[in-house]
Amino acid sequence: MKHFLTLDDMTPSQLQQLLSRAIELKAMQQRGELYRPFIGKTQVLIFTKASTRTRVSFETGFGQFGGTTIFLAPDHSQLGRGEPAADTARVLSRMADIVVIRTAEHNQLLDFANHATIPVVNALTDDFHPCQLLADIMTYEEHRGSIRGRRVTWIGDGNNMCHSWMNAARLFDFELSIATPAGYAPKPALTQRDPGRFIFSQDPDQAILNSDLVVTDTWASMGQEEEKARRQLAFSHFKVTKARMSKAKPEALFMHCLPAYRGFEVDAAVIDGPQSVVWDEAGNRLHAQKALLEYLLDGFIGLSENSLPEPLSESP
Ligand code: CP
Ligand code: NVA
Repeated sequence: MKHFLTLDDMTPSQLQQLLSRAIELKAMQQRGELYRPFIGKTQVLIFTKASTRTRVSFETGFGQFGGTTIFLAPDHSQLGRGEPAADTARVLSRMADIVVIRTAEHNQLLDFANHATIPVVNALTDDFHPCQLLADIMTYEEHRGSIRGRRVTWIGDGNNMCHSWMNAARLFDFELSIATPAGYAPKPALTQRDPGRFIFSQDPDQAILNSDLVVTDTWASMGQEEEKARRQLAFSHFKVTKARMSKAKPEALFMHCLPAYRGFEVDAAVIDGPQSVVWDEAGNRLHAQKALLEYLLDGFIGLSENSLPEPLSESP
């Protein structure tokens, strides 16, 4: 049974092939080619947290493939009334073809996957957001070519996105510089898997030097709304400003998984400026996840890892 619970569920070569396939599927979509391998198949989305991009990209992608989606909000299913995830997993496995889950506890997702006999996808937990990373790496490589050996800087919270960037650094083989305020570092277990790969600091101006890509995220993730004021204080020196961005390489890109809060983790001049690729990043959620769905349901990855097209723009 193939699940996608973290990036580690795929090998580096499978991931690279999946991104090549995503680029091919994007081109097919842009040419208006109809491709409907999932006619008669059903995807169930179980989301206990809010979502714009993830929900719409999974529903749209599955629909473009000819399949049907059922969206289960917490208060509209028996899960919200206490039916165990394990029981729901057994039932949905007998009706649907794939389940995509967004929930707080990563262990809940694991519990569901352990009892499912159909593929389960992590659409964000408090610990990881692997689908976002597929789109992020795809976007970097479309603009700048292979991310291998590049230097990426994460500025902000050591949260689910930061953890997935740490997994990506290991699997796609790039250096990750991480600047977080004291008390907001990522989980040590992730560092221990490949200690030499990460450079930790509490100084964002130092961390950003020589970077090919700068990434940030909200200072208060979903579920941390009550900590917002305290976090705004703790993170006040971790904003990605134009001045700070100018310390990265001149050709550096800026990414944010969105939703973004201008004036807090990033200034408008950066997210709406020339180095930002956040709209491509968001749009690529659709194509990267279509490649993922195809791989999980059909075992198809498609193109070889050497077939990436030339980057859209060359470094100056
Ligand atoms: N980036 C992301 O996952 O966005 P949504 O919360 O809108 O799905
Ligand atoms: N870290 C954010 C990501 C949102 C896509 C959150 O968990 O709310």
